[in-house]
Amino acid sequence: MRHYLKFSDFTLEEYQYLFERTAKLKARLKSGTLYQPLPGKVLGMIFEKSSTRTRVSFEAGMFQLGGHAMFLQSKDTQLGRGEPIEDVAKVMSRMVDIVMVRTFEQTIIDRFAENSLVPVINGLTNEYHPCQIMADIFTYIEHHGPIEGKTVCWVGDSNNISRTWLQAAKIFNFKLNLACPRGYEMTVLDGETYSAANFETFTDPYQAARDADIVTTDVCTSMGYERETLQRKKDFINYKVSEKLMLQAKAEVLFMHCLPAHRGEEVTDEVLDGAQSVVFDEAENRLHAQKAILAWCFGHDG
Ligand code: CP
Ligand code: NVA
Repeated sequence: MRHYLKFSDFTLEEYQYLFERTAKLKARLKSGTLYQPLPGKVLGMIFEKSSTRTRVSFEAGMFQLGGHAMFLQSKDTQLGRGEPIEDVAKVMSRMVDIVMVRTFEQTIIDRFAENSLVPVINGLTNEYHPCQIMADIFTYIEHHGPIEGKTVCWVGDSNNISRTWLQAAKIFNFKLNLACPRGYEMTVLDGETYSAANFETFTDPYQAARDADIVTTDVCTSMGYERETLQRKKDFINYKVSEKLMLQAKAEVLFMHCLPAHRGEEVTDEVLDGAQSVVFDEAENRLHAQKAILAWCFGHDG
């Protein structure tokens, strides 16, 4: 039994296999062909934070594969009234076949997985968002081929998304240029060392974006950090992706954002809606990539 709790839980070879599966599942869905290898299987989804893409993609994906997805908001369950996460894991995993969890600290999902009889997938924690970066890398490959040796410029917070890009940089061997304000530097939490070939930090986003193949950003205040919003708005004022900043990158650069975006804050409308933006491809590819993971967890590669 395998869990997917952080990006580095899968190897390069496993991602290559999953991307082949993602492309096949996407083509099959577009052609209107039914593929339902999971009849009778149930995905339990625990959400301790808001979501649009993650909920819709997992729920639609599980239905398309012939299974069922159960949406649980922690505030409506006994989890929200203090039931220990270990007990919730023991109970749920006797009733469902696979679980997705969106929560706060990574330790919460780790504790859930330690007590689960079924695979657990990370649907976002404070520290990581592996399904998002898997879909993002698939999106890059769809547009421009292998990401190996490319440069990804991240502008903004050292958060769950950028920390997952960092794990991906080592596995896929690309370079992550991270431009963040002082006081918001990356904290590596996985015990790995990241060489200069995979990771460089900048304070000037214009330097970080030079010759980049991808420019990407995210909100400056992630879910769970709302009380810091006002201070962060001030601290991130110079960390906005604009058309001027995009000019630093390669001509064929792609703009990425996990969404939801705060238009006008971390990115301008012109960039988000511009020809270099693939943000809606990224969102769609969450569906196809996660279906590949779900089918794989049940041993289906047809
Ligand atoms: N990108 C992402 O995970 O979006 P949601 O918060 O809407 O699920
Ligand atoms: N960093 C953002 C990502 C949302 C998908 C957050 O955690 O709120």
